[in-house]
Amino acid sequence: MKEELEKIHQDCQVALALAKKESEISDIRIQVLGRKGSLTQLLKRLATLPEGERKEIGRRANEIKQALETKVEEALRQIQERERKEALEREKIDVTLPGRRMAIGTRHPLTQILDEIIHIFSRLGFEVVEGPEVELDYYNFEALNIPKGHPAREMQATFFISEDVVLRTHTSPVQVRTMERKRPPVRVICPGAVYRCDSDPTHSPMFHQVEGLLVDRGITFSDLKGVLTVFVHQMFGKETKLRFRPSFFPFTEPSAEIDIECFICGGTGCSVCSGTGWLEILGSGMVDPAVYRFVDYDPEEVTGFAFGMGIERIAMLKYGINDIRLFFTNDLRFLKQF
Ligand code: PHE
Repeated sequence: MKEELEKIHQDCQVALALAKKESEISDIRIQVLGRKGSLTQLLKRLATLPEGERKEIGRRANEIKQALETKVEEALRQIQERERKEALEREKIDVTLPGRRMAIGTRHPLTQILDEIIHIFSRLGFEVVEGPEVELDYYNFEALNIPKGHPAREMQATFFISEDVVLRTHTSPVQVRTMERKRPPVRVICPGAVYRCDSDPTHSPMFHQVEGLLVDRGITFSDLKGVLTVFVHQMFGKETKLRFRPSFFPFTEPSAEIDIECFICGGTGCSVCSGTGWLEILGSGMVDPAVYRFVDYDPEEVTGFAFGMGIERIAMLKYGINDIRLFFTNDLRFLKQF
């Protein structure tokens, strides 16, 4: 029995030394020290030995039992320690690696132009107001002095939702909505999307306009000229030449379109300005007294001017973009340039 005991001790030590995993160690513990383990079984058999032998082997057996228990604990600790180190090694972060940059977007060129326009007019005391894109025929046409059947309706290819509801074809209905709400003095700009059934490299069925309206006592055409000249100079540069060309809009009288000298050819005529030397940038005029009647303003008491411009057109001229569709196809190679 003594030899058997030493052999158990030996084998167990070897097995522990070879074990690599926690599960292997617990197997060994069960096989040797467990309830049916070899050492436990041996200890039970001690009772059958004669007294002297029993004491001696008993003491040795307990010694070995304790030694093995300690060894098992030790082996477990070592393995756990090793696994912890390996895990730390695996999860180590190399702080010297270059970081991954977040791609930062840019503001859309139309937003940039609109912000610039708002900035210029807000310094002149204009406030920003907005109106609905799905609009009543009344505001889009009727109250702007364009009754049903009026030929001016043909100027704007309208998307009708029903007989009385349209997608607004311009931002001018916001003029009427503003004057309905507010007594003079009124000084607003109204940016927003507008819709016309039209599509080619310079026309998109959805595009953007900024409307302007100033109404007060004693406003004259020279106020219109002054404000819009300041705008053109701030938007396109102080040296930009501009002209006021007589025009027609049903809701303004007199009306004028503003052209700036073509900066591609310097006024001599090229394909961009169709040989005229001038580029049209906005429509304007003195608010027609007929419009005041719809909003209960007294044309004997107040006068004012209005203007409207296409944001895409301004952006195309300012940045030399030749296809309006580029604004709406979200090609990052295009958008990143601004
Ligand atoms: N609403 C006109 C258009 O879309 C522009 C305009 C606005 C003209 C205000 C005069 C005054 O063509």
